[in-house]
Formats: sequence, structure tokens, C-alpha cells
Amino acid sequence: MSTYTPRPLGPTLALAGSVGKRADVLVIGLTKSADGPELALAEGVVDDQILSGLLDDLVRVGATGGAEEITRIPAPESLPVDSVVAVGLGAADKLDAEQIRKSAGAAARSIKGGGTAATTLSILDLGAAAEGFALGAYVFHEYRSAKSAPGPEAGPLGAVELLVTAPKDKSAKETLERSTAIAKAVATAREFVNTPPSHLFPAEFADRARALGSAAGMKVEILDEKALEKNGYGGILGVGKGSSRPPRLVRLSYSSKKKGAPSVALVGKGITFDTGGISIKPAASMENMTSDMGGAAAVIATVVLAAELGVPVDVTATVPMAENMPSSTAQRPGDVLTQYGGTTVEVINTDAEGRLILADAIVRACEDDPDYLIDTATLTGAQMVALGTRTPGVMGTDQFRDRVAQVSQQVGENGWAMPFPGELRADLDSKVADLANVTNQRWGGMLVAGIYLKEFVSDNVQWAHIDVAGPAYNTAGPWGYTGKGGTGVPVRTMIGVIEDIAANG
Ligand code: BES
Ligand code: MN
Ligand code: ZN
Repeated sequence: MSTYTPRPLGPTLALAGSVGKRADVLVIGLTKSADGPELALAEGVVDDQILSGLLDDLVRVGATGGAEEITRIPAPESLPVDSVVAVGLGAADKLDAEQIRKSAGAAARSIKGGGTAATTLSILDLGAAAEGFALGAYVFHEYRSAKSAPGPEAGPLGAVELLVTAPKDKSAKETLERSTAIAKAVATAREFVNTPPSHLFPAEFADRARALGSAAGMKVEILDEKALEKNGYGGILGVGKGSSRPPRLVRLSYSSKKKGAPSVALVGKGITFDTGGISIKPAASMENMTSDMGGAAAVIATVVLAAELGVPVDVTATVPMAENMPSSTAQRPGDVLTQYGGTTVEVINTDAEGRLILADAIVRACEDDPDYLIDTATLTGAQMVALGTRTPGVMGTDQFRDRVAQVSQQVGENGWAMPFPGELRADLDSKVADLANVTNQRWGGMLVAGIYLKEFVSDNVQWAHIDVAGPAYNTAGPWGYTGKGGTGVPVRTMIGVIEDIAANG
């Protein structure tokens, strides 16, 4: 049994009616207009005269209100804080929840020293401000020793007072609780992705998933390599057999206990490290393949979140975990394996391993007869070629695919619907088996991977496949509420879809 207990994954968040004595810094918002910056609404929580004095000071030092611009000035005597941070929100007529989230995140990242920030951004949108601050303040220093760990003066923001006119309001409390839970789930997924492959391998990942699932009161089932063998999970075993660290299949089930509740199956790719196997990857950037369990991390975090929120939908996560390594026991290009359920596959390229472990998991998930199935994976480099590093590709059955993409746009993760051109399917025909795991050409690589998975989804299931090869892991600089490393995408899309199903069936 695992003893894994996550560390606190962000600042503590609380509601307040005015700037408290504990606060060190006040964060206000500025919009951008042709006549210079304007104060974003902060009515009722900070004195009007103080605010207009602040605006004068900010204009004097060049603040414009441009999106995510940070301007820090000393606070006037009349405020109990040391300094004021003004964060740009961009044009007022373009201001939406995601911009508030990003600006709050940028403000949170700019404040160091473990202190407390009070903010008026919560007047604009409490939930978005809370999520942005919580996620912007997330940092990962677990593997730095005292030699390089940031000291107290450089540590992240410790606490946030979200200013609202009625802090005792039940609806404000509920909004904050929900946003806190969502931010914690996103941070949980980030934490898994950021944990290096030396420390996070299939058995350890499974143990940690079990610990989170048990703590949330869920049914947990883990298949080890013997159980996988006995039950015919040829895809997971084939990919895992090059590693000294054997594969796992984890199942976490949240039952809403509501009669006739809709059911959602989640499946996530859990390759704890992807060397490519015998079809080995080039050395350049191979270290980024620590993120190849980003899909698994997101579905584990999402099912735990659904349980915490008590969403009236039954959710089961089926999570295959393996390490893709080259060795004398590894599978070879040309090997044939049998996926769970009986489909035979010619493994032409051992680096197209994600689809092999996902196919087993998808067949298993469909045995439960779910109404909906969402799978997500860092599946193809082609996702980034098609859509860049921040836009997930969404594929699947037409209606549900479009619904998932729409929700993803609403929550700010920005998934985009992609087609399955019929002519691509024949490229996966094999000379020796039912299917080949790759085609002999490179065009439409993201779509081909989706088409491969489609072969394993039951006909009566509404299905969406989300390729997050780029979006799950930020190798560029920090932006908005996203730091370097794991991003937690697509947790907010998946919980958004589950809540949408709860509301609309
Ligand atoms: N994990 C990779 C995809 C990936 C690449 C994720 C870059 C994040 C960043 C996946 O297993 C892979 O290697 N895919 C191959 C498929 C190909 C062999 C058909 C790829 O994209 O090159
Ligand atoms: Mn690969
Ligand atoms: Zn991979």
C-alpha cells in the first residue's frame, strides 16, 4: 500500500470583504483603452479615492493595462499593504474569464516571498481569479536540495484574500470551493507530470493513483504484470516488456450513487518515459518524454475531482501505465501482438506505443458499457505540427467531439475539432495482422493515431479523443497561469464535459 500524501499544491485561498492586516500586497486590475489604462471594477472593497490615487501613480510609471503587464508600486499609507501590483487585463470589451485567469496567474507568478496577496480581480470573476492565482502560484522544486532550492524570500505566494462585497454569501463560498478543487486537480496532474521518470515508474504511479483514489472514497483496482498476462492485455505488455519496471493497469471508479446517472469512461496514456523503444528517439529533447504520462495524470486528477465535487455522473478512469524502453527483452519492429479483446497488430514502429496501450484500455473501458468515453494522450508529434503547442486536437464521434471542443474553448483550454478522413484507414492495413500500428507515410499523423483508436471503441459509445502532445507540457517560458513543465491540460476540459453531461445528459 502506498503512503503517498501530496504536498500542499498552491496557496491557501480565502474570501474577504476588505484588505486584511495580514496582506503584504494588493493586486488590482487595469484595462487598456485609447485614453490610457482604466481601473477595473473594484467597487465596495477598496476606497474609491485610494483607487484613483493609485491609477495616477501607475500612469506615471508607464502602466498601460496591456494583457498580463505587471506594474509594481509602493502602497500609499492609507492601505495596510507594502506594495500594489497592477496587472493588465487588455481591452475591456474583450475581457473574459480566461483573460482574468491568465492575468491573475501572471500576478501570482510575479509575487515572491511566501506572503499574502489581497486582490480585487475577484470582483470581476471570483472563480476565474481564484483559479488563476492558485495555478499561477504553483511551483515544483521537489528535487532541489538546499543548494538550489529557493529561500523564503524567493518562494511562491503563500495565501490569497479574494475581495468580494459579500464574503459570507453562500454562493461566493460555493464558487471558491469549486475553484479551489479544480485548481487542486490541475496541480495534481502537473505534479505527476513534473515528477521525473527516475521516481515515477508504472508501479509507483499506480500506488500514487491508488492513494488518491482511496482517499476520495473510490473503488480502486490495479492489474500488475501477472494479471495483465492472465487477462490478455497484449498491448500494455508488449510496450512494457523492454523495461525492468513492469507495466500496470489502474482502474478508479467513482459512483454517484444516483439511479440512472449517465456514465463516463476516462482513459489516459500513462507512458512514464518514452525512449521510443527499439525504434529509439533522437537524444535531442528526449528528456521531455517524462511528460508522456500527461493523459494518465489528467484522467486520474479528473476522476478524483468528480468525486470531490460529487457530480451526479458515474465516472471510471482506466489508466494503462508502462515504460517504453529498448533492451534485449523489448518488442521488435515486426513483432505481432494481440490487443485486449483479440485484435492482432503488427508493431512496425515501437515509438507508436501510446495507441497500443490505449487500445487495450479502451476495450476494457467499453466492457462497462459507458454512455461516453473520453481518452486523452500525449500521442503524436503531429498534433504540434497541426495545431501548435497550446491547442489540443479533439477527434471522435462527430457530435460528442464537437461538444468536447466547445467546452474546451469555454474553459480556456482551447481544444479544436479535427476530422477522420476516410481514406486514411486503409493505410493501417497490415500484411500479416489485423492492423499495423503506423502507416508508411507521415501525413495526418494525429488523425491516423485517432483512426487507430477508433477501431477499438464500441459502436454505441459517444467518444472523444484529445491529443495533448504539446499542451500537456510547457517547454517554453511561463505565460498566464502556466509555468514551465506540466500544465494539467486537459483536466478542466474533462471536468467541464462531465458537468455538462450532468446538467444536460
Ligand atoms: N509520445 C510521443 C508523441 C510526442 C512527441 C509527445 C513529442 C509529445 C512531444 C509518441 O509516443 C510518439 O513517439 N509518436 C510518434 C508516432 C509515429 C512513430 C507514428 C511521433 O509522433 O513521432
Ligand atoms: Mn513514442
Ligand atoms: Zn509516447
